[in-house]
Amino acid sequence: MQFSDFGQRFNAYSGITHLMDDLNQGLLQDDVVMLGGGNPAAIPQVLETLQDTVSDLLQRGDLVKALTNYDGPQGKQSFLESLADYFNEQFNWGISAKNIALTHGSQSAFFALFNSFAGTTGKRKRHVLLPITPEYIGYSDLGVEDEIFVSRNPQIERLPDQFFKYHIDFDQLEINADTGLVCVSRPTNPSGNVLTDEECAKLDRLARQHQVPLLLDNAYGTPFPHIIFNDVNPFWNDNTIVCLSLSKLGLPGVRTGIVIANQEVITQLSNMTAITSLAPGGVGPVVVNELLRQGLLTQLCDDVIRPFYQARCELAVTWLKQAVNDERLHIHLPEGAIFLWLWFEGLSISSSELYTKLKQQGLLVVPGHYFFPGQPGVNAHGEQCLRMNYVQSENDLKKGIEILARTLKQYW
Ligand SMILES: Cc1ncc(COP(=O)(O)O)c(C=O)c1O
Repeated sequence: MQFSDFGQRFNAYSGITHLMDDLNQGLLQDDVVMLGGGNPAAIPQVLETLQDTVSDLLQRGDLVKALTNYDGPQGKQSFLESLADYFNEQFNWGISAKNIALTHGSQSAFFALFNSFAGTTGKRKRHVLLPITPEYIGYSDLGVEDEIFVSRNPQIERLPDQFFKYHIDFDQLEINADTGLVCVSRPTNPSGNVLTDEECAKLDRLARQHQVPLLLDNAYGTPFPHIIFNDVNPFWNDNTIVCLSLSKLGLPGVRTGIVIANQEVITQLSNMTAITSLAPGGVGPVVVNELLRQGLLTQLCDDVIRPFYQARCELAVTWLKQAVNDERLHIHLPEGAIFLWLWFEGLSISSSELYTKLKQQGLLVVPGHYFFPGQPGVNAHGEQCLRMNYVQSENDLKKGIEILARTLKQYW
């Protein structure tokens, strides 16, 4: 069989394929401690609310209606309208349904957006600028063309109690005529970093100056799922593309992403959806629209989801510090998302070697080197880091941390 260049590019065993394979393996094998993937936690109150909502929708015939009809390429109209009202009520953004498009998860929105703004553009080759790394592993292989990313290393601020925090190094940041899009996740996967309001405002100013859109990947942010532990303001204006998702709310299976942007971007996205997949799925929208209608969404996020992750995160940090008990362990200040980003300063083996040793012991994590898209060669800092989630049961979390501490003692 002969695949085209395009076919071969997407046949590569990429970081995200590796991650999703591990995720599947972790789900299938009981003896593996799965601190690797990005599946949200199975929070009993969330599951219960979803079960009740789906039962109601089924009884009323709304679920079958969603299953048996195509929506338009922009997505389910009733949901677009509810969302516009919801964002306007929450943040006063002054948007309408025309500013929103649904996609098959954020991941497919990134594919459409990255390739719409980066790659060959007339005589230029434009890039997606990632102003700070480490950054989301899922971006890395989305380019239809080679090398669509340019990225920058962060400034590292060392904090008390073995914490550190990344900041954008604005002195190293250059937006130029070859920049097609600026993209950043907030909160950041893998580090749990949340860009400050000042950093966002500065990025926005720079992006506007150069007439380049700023994409804020808000998969863990406000108003839903609201896995964000400090007080920062959400950000949107007509040069910003905010991407949200139903996944981390607890619904990764419905594959629904939400894009908020100016109408030109929304039209581009919906036209691409029409061509590549006719319409986004309607099941996630009908379920979450019902949560919105009943006023349950904010309550679920603020009273259940955020407190769950915050408590679990604090527990994981305490157990880690106790088990590893070494000053060379540094933890990125967990400000949001569902991961801890660990830096083992002076580690004697690479992050992928450590990953393999841990896997042999029955612990799955994600090696740090995957999180530096757009960087040529090996990133020395990333080679001393790994990402672990804290969404599994307390038992598994404890077991995983013990395996990690034991293994580190041998290789530090
Ligand atoms: C930062 C970030 N953005 C986007 C996504 C993808 O979300 P979706 O399931 O909507 O494609 C993830 C998934 O882990 C993520 O971590």
